[in-house]
Amino acid sequence: MEDGGPAVRRRSRPACARKRSRDRAQPCGPCSPPAHKRSSPRAEEEPVPASPEYNNDSEEDLFGDYSSFSGNDSLLAQVDNMEQECLQSIDLLSYTKNMEDKATVEPAFGDLQLQNVRSKELIFSATGNITGFKTEESHFWRTASEQENRTLEHGDCILDDLPSSQLLYFEEMNNSSVDSRKPSGRKENANNMNFCRDKMLNQSSCHHNAEHSKRNNELSPSTTCNLSKRKSLKDHLKNTMTENAKAHIPKVSRTKQLKEAVLSEEICVAKKAIETSSVDIGPFYGLPSKVKDLLVQFRGIEKLYEWQHTCLTLESLQQRKNLIYSLPTSGGKTLIAEILILQELLCRQKDVLMVLPYVAIVQEKVWALSSFGIELGFLVEEYAGSKGRFPPIKRRIKKSLYIATIEKGHNLVNSLIETGRIGDLGLVVVDELHMLGAGSRGAILEMILAKILYTSKTTQIIGMSATLNNVGDLQQFLQAEYYANNFRPVELKEYVKIQDSIYEVDNKAENGLTFSRLLNFKYSSNLQRMDPDHLIALVTEVIPNYSCLVFCPTKKNCENVAEMICKYLNKEYRNHRENEKQDLIKDLKNIGKGSLCPVLKRTIPFGIAYHHSGLISDERKRIEEAYSAGVLCLLTCTSTLAAGVNLPARRVILRAPYIATEFLKKNQYKQMIGRAGRAGIDSAGESILIVQEKDKHLVQDLVNSPLENCYSNLLLEVTKGIQSLLLSLVGLKIARNSEEIYHFMCGTLYGVQQQFLSKEKSLSDVTREALGCLIEKGLLKEKMTSEKEQKSQSNLEITQLGQATYKGSIDLAYCDALYRDLKKGLEGLVLESCLHLLYLTTPYDMTSHCSPDWMIYFRQFSQLNSVEQKVAAIVGVPESFIMKKASGQAIKKDVDSGVVNRLYLSFVLYALLKETNIWNVSEKFNMSRGYVQNLLNLAASFNSCVLHFCEELEEFWVYKALLTDLTKRLTYCVKAELIPLMEVAGVLESRAKQLYDSGYKTLAHLANANTETLVKTIEHLSRRQARQMVSSAKMLLTEKAEALQEEVEELLKVPTDTSEGLLTTLP
Ligand SMILES: Nc1ncnc2c1ncn2[C@@H]1O[C@H](COP(=O)(O)OP(=O)(O)OP(=O)(O)O)[C@@H](O)[C@H]1O
Ligand SMILES: [Mg+2]
Repeated sequence: MEDGGPAVRRRSRPACARKRSRDRAQPCGPCSPPAHKRSSPRAEEEPVPASPEYNNDSEEDLFGDYSSFSGNDSLLAQVDNMEQECLQSIDLLSYTKNMEDKATVEPAFGDLQLQNVRSKELIFSATGNITGFKTEESHFWRTASEQENRTLEHGDCILDDLPSSQLLYFEEMNNSSVDSRKPSGRKENANNMNFCRDKMLNQSSCHHNAEHSKRNNELSPSTTCNLSKRKSLKDHLKNTMTENAKAHIPKVSRTKQLKEAVLSEEICVAKKAIETSSVDIGPFYGLPSKVKDLLVQFRGIEKLYEWQHTCLTLESLQQRKNLIYSLPTSGGKTLIAEILILQELLCRQKDVLMVLPYVAIVQEKVWALSSFGIELGFLVEEYAGSKGRFPPIKRRIKKSLYIATIEKGHNLVNSLIETGRIGDLGLVVVDELHMLGAGSRGAILEMILAKILYTSKTTQIIGMSATLNNVGDLQQFLQAEYYANNFRPVELKEYVKIQDSIYEVDNKAENGLTFSRLLNFKYSSNLQRMDPDHLIALVTEVIPNYSCLVFCPTKKNCENVAEMICKYLNKEYRNHRENEKQDLIKDLKNIGKGSLCPVLKRTIPFGIAYHHSGLISDERKRIEEAYSAGVLCLLTCTSTLAAGVNLPARRVILRAPYIATEFLKKNQYKQMIGRAGRAGIDSAGESILIVQEKDKHLVQDLVNSPLENCYSNLLLEVTKGIQSLLLSLVGLKIARNSEEIYHFMCGTLYGVQQQFLSKEKSLSDVTREALGCLIEKGLLKEKMTSEKEQKSQSNLEITQLGQATYKGSIDLAYCDALYRDLKKGLEGLVLESCLHLLYLTTPYDMTSHCSPDWMIYFRQFSQLNSVEQKVAAIVGVPESFIMKKASGQAIKKDVDSGVVNRLYLSFVLYALLKETNIWNVSEKFNMSRGYVQNLLNLAASFNSCVLHFCEELEEFWVYKALLTDLTKRLTYCVKAELIPLMEVAGVLESRAKQLYDSGYKTLAHLANANTETLVKTIEHLSRRQARQMVSSAKMLLTEKAEALQEEVEELLKVPTDTSEGLLTTLP
């Protein structure tokens, strides 16, 4: 593998500082008036009324000779000079280093397609959106519009005339005071973002001073902006000098004091720049050679692909710009993200968040990266399902890699913002970036990214995907550069089958398809009737020696297809790896505590299985393992297997161009066929889409059309989207009023696409409407604090219910119902068993998909004791109702079906807690075991949400203790002794049981296990799995131990805020 060489050293000087140093030689733009303008006599005679920071007249008097400091050119020039000297010395260092680096590596730029977002035309203009806004409250919208026009005119050179270190200092100061309210100041901001930033910068010093804004309006916009910034900086300097002046050292000259103060600030800035910069710690892209060795050892990756090298050495990455990169499936995108993550953790010593779309993928990644963490000394923390701590433990020595699902990633980011620690996050990596367009999860992903962009300008964002189309929008949203390449290590041939002809997808052909061959098969009339789509002919061309995935439109279809294929395969297929297949059956029986799905029992002997959400995760995992090992050669599956899973397939067959009843989208099609021909696993890959004659024209469109655009879901997902976002903005104090909320919204993907997504409503209308709803729902309230504020903009405040809703991540559609139900519960909570509590915390959104079997309902009800039966009556489901339903009688009385269904689901959960056997319960309730497990997982997670909800509301104090315990019970619905083992990522119940029975009873046993012994002791555990499992356990143990150590240190720390007299009494 080639060395990356030190040329990739990534420096962390903030974007604005870099910009300044690059722009230094350029003439000032229209908004950078020469210094003498700022110090013109007029400016001195009529000082511009300023922000509160300026208003301190008495302090100004202290300056004597320097009372006209704001106009003192020579002093400012000195400041600039000193800064330049300081900066040049830093630049010289980095320049020398860069030259050395360049001499070592000459990066080759292949099909690089770099597009700077700044060069893009703005498609978004909020100006047109805010017409017709009439109310008093909307004062700011008009001002916003006017200022936006001006700022748009003057581009982003507003900060250009400040020396970079002053900018750093200014931003630093600004950070500490209004950090969470200030938008990103990256250089490559789109103009609307500059508008937001500049508005906020101004605002931080203006604080709605009406007179000030009036004066500002009289000045030219550029002068105003520059003045306010320059003055704000000077103000800080002034403050420092004021402090010096107060210090009664009469003998020291003021000039000297001033110089010292300025110099000390400069040194601070320079130190900060050095502290946050990246340090090369080895020859492999700045990383130690050990990383290279580990890639060979753990991944079998000997050499980076050419594009991977090009990407890693991109100028934009070296400058820590945000980046979106796009390559076909299996192109090797993950490795780039992983190297960048290691650089961030080890070279820049910052924490990293990696966002992945599904729990199973998070667990897989935690396994895969724990070994790296153990070897290289960083922590890997899992944020999925019910795992993850909010806020995360602040580590003093090791840095953390948080691997999270979208939902947990959002909670994590919220908790970091809330505790003022968002700056600790150096890098955020989003895999499958196209998920931005995926319903409510897309909306949450958008919130994560928008919040990071707004609150932390030092956090770099990297997003990747194989299926992106409207990259421009995403670039504008993320203020990112773009890299794309068509490289795919294994060629993928796409075919379409219509009747018995196979066509190759060919962009050059007129209709996108060229005839390839006739399918060679001899079918009996019976077989022709059973398998009209010739699936058996297609699969037997590859299995059993090669593997095959058959995507089916529904779960039931997966099972039917698997059975149908097996029915007509000849007996020889049974002989292939027969013993291993028997072992698999045995394992699945163990997982099912003696039960085995009859379909799998019939299909596995032929090397075939189905894979969909009806399986429990333990089964799914075991089937995936067997398929990866080649024991199973064919899986029939739903589209859930299409995302990011690295399962081998020589051939991927799409049973029909449908998912359920919906015609396939191009993105879905690409993701599915992308499973064929994976690097390092297959040497070739092909996909075959089976099409009926009637769908032929649709399929031609499908294969020839571009990928779908990715659109914001903030507005579509009203309660989970925009309303939830605005609530959390106020809750987190990111925004305090509609003005700041509007600014935030400008920086969302929705803000970028607003004009396209909602033609009839402007961004301000949409924002105002959502705020109106939140106020109406009693989640936010307006606070009129002063007359001035009334004139401009009232402050928004989160109510207690709002705070509880946002803290508990409760869908706003249900917060009222939850409050009502919990309140009613207080009147007569039945604590004879946990049934009543379970009912109160059963997820509301599950009830609409539930249709009870009334006989089962009645049977389960009858088995409850009399006190438990009271719960039904208390919540509003009378016994007579259940009885009549079960006996098919008509019911006159109106009973809320939501409540009825919810109670039924709580019966399921109650049975689960009593039996801890998903199989028995799924049988009892005639539900698929996968559904039951999913219900359990969602209930565990909703329980912890309700717990957080209750923690914010004094009146619900009693629920806190009760729900803490219940959440734990639902999270690990297994025998207590298995819980410590199941805390290890990816160790599910059956594996935990195997380990426990073999003597690995605790986390420490597993962390200290000998891999070889493990492989020998635990059945069907590969060496690689054993190693990863031990690494994961070690990681968890280290993480827990370090957390405790840090707690001890925190406890023993001598307080720094106590007077000395008090401290002497301490030991
Ligand atoms: N330089 C390399 N040499 C050999 N194998 C590699 C290299 N880089 C990546 N791979 C392997 O290629 C396979 C696919 O890589 P990866 O999962 O990163 O693809 P991807 O681009 O993320 O695809 P998808 O879009 O489907 O998620 C993995 O098994 C990975 O280990
Ligand atoms: Mg991937």
